Amino acid sequence: MRHFTSVHDLPDLNEALKIAFEMKKNPFAYQHLGKNKTMVLIFFNSSLRTRLSTQKAAMNLGMNTMILNVNQDGWQLESELGIIMDGDKPEHLREAIPVIGSYCDIIGVRSFAQFKSKEDDYQEKIINQFIDYSGVPVVSMEAATRHPLQSFADHVTIEEFKTKERPKVVLTWAPHPKALPQAVPNSFVEWMRQTDYELVVTHPEGYELAPEFMGDVKVEYDQKKAFSNADFIYAKNWASYSSYGQVLSRDRKWTVDEEKMALTNQAKFMHCLPVRRNIIVSDGVIDSPDSIVIQEAANREVSAQAVLKMILEELK
Ligand code: CP
Repeated sequence: MRHFTSVHDLPDLNEALKIAFEMKKNPFAYQHLGKNKTMVLIFFNSSLRTRLSTQKAAMNLGMNTMILNVNQDGWQLESELGIIMDGDKPEHLREAIPVIGSYCDIIGVRSFAQFKSKEDDYQEKIINQFIDYSGVPVVSMEAATRHPLQSFADHVTIEEFKTKERPKVVLTWAPHPKALPQAVPNSFVEWMRQTDYELVVTHPEGYELAPEFMGDVKVEYDQKKAFSNADFIYAKNWASYSSYGQVLSRDRKWTVDEEKMALTNQAKFMHCLPVRRNIIVSDGVIDSPDSIVIQEAANREVSAQAVLKMILEELK
């Protein structure tokens, strides 16, 4: 594997899962792979889990790491091609990317959807420039339309907690005061479609995800019906795709609470975090023994390490 931007980059999903569990069991067994190799982690947006887990994963593999917070530490970077650069951005990605690539062996990039243009976001203009111009492997640490390291960790977590071969996994929209990207739900659905799980997506009308991610996945507009007999509830807010980037509803009837969880098959509660308590999910649910959000976040280290191991093996 050269780059990692989606589940489709993995040579084999079952093999990747095996590697993830191997990394979890024995995190320091492959330090030789990263010796004298450097990973640069570039953040255009904030992070807690992705930053720490990816850095830890790289260190577990013996790599050196450098972090650049573009909006705080570096020059503001222009991404538009053909633009007259007479504004507030003194450097273009076209130069910055190959320069960064000359200092490292792998680049991790976080660059969220900007909601200025659906076309630009869904063409992944930022991360694709890193792939085109850096000369080194690129790992998505959440791009405009996908968050694959999160989805990989989600998959590992479901495998760890499932009590039946084919669990019912429900992705539910939940309210939020701000417009959030579709990257996590897109990526989660795309990833789950590669498994044998029963997947149901529930959200208010107007929140349909892009057809290329949904395929023929079932949408149940009645959240309570969707929760019936679920084994995993995965909550997430996202802004509208059709009315691109708009918040169409803040309806707290969609908050995941104890009453709705009682409809499930004692489902495990998941969320990628950060989460707004008592808006996305009630305290009672997230503090219950069935909440596995911390284990899910811990698996971010495992998924990042499995991905970096596969990339380092190709670099040898
Ligand atoms: N889930 C996730 O990506 O967390 P951060 O935004 O804190 O990295």
